[in-house]
Amino acid sequence: MRILVINGPNLNMLGVREPDVYGRRTYADLKSDILCWARELGVTADIFQSNHEGAIVDRIQEAYGVFDGIVINAAAYSHTSVAILDALRAVRIPAVEVHISDVTKREPFRRLSYAGMACLRAYSGLGFEGYRQAMLFLRDYLSGKEG
Ligand code: DQA
Repeated sequence: MRILVINGPNLNMLGVREPDVYGRRTYADLKSDILCWARELGVTADIFQSNHEGAIVDRIQEAYGVFDGIVINAAAYSHTSVAILDALRAVRIPAVEVHISDVTKREPFRRLSYAGMACLRAYSGLGFEGYRQAMLFLRDYLSGKEG
């Protein structure tokens, strides 16, 4: 089972950016947590990060026929990008949304997620653990145990 984990803009700045919101752990820490959890869950995870909307759209399109599931934290593009929503709908790969912070408790503009409209569910406010929950859900969903 192959899962593509997509991270959007500024997530490469984890550890530096707004530590009161996102914590002090770095993007390298997040990648190593994801790979470790993937091993434990018995799935293969490929991790992609970009600060560019079109690069994220390209990566989603390239996932067609290759990946079984997508975990996506589109970061700020969650709240603006119809292109990412359309790409997720185009490939029809089961997807789950993640936000490290609790977007429901922040500025009102963070409550709308276009990417989330193409996702089976969302994990928000769980920190890095949200990625583990998303992979666990996808593994069970894809093997027919969930949903
Ligand atoms: C985020 C929340 C977004 O609103 C924000 O723009 C981000 C990160 C999160 O993981 O909590 O960059 O997606």
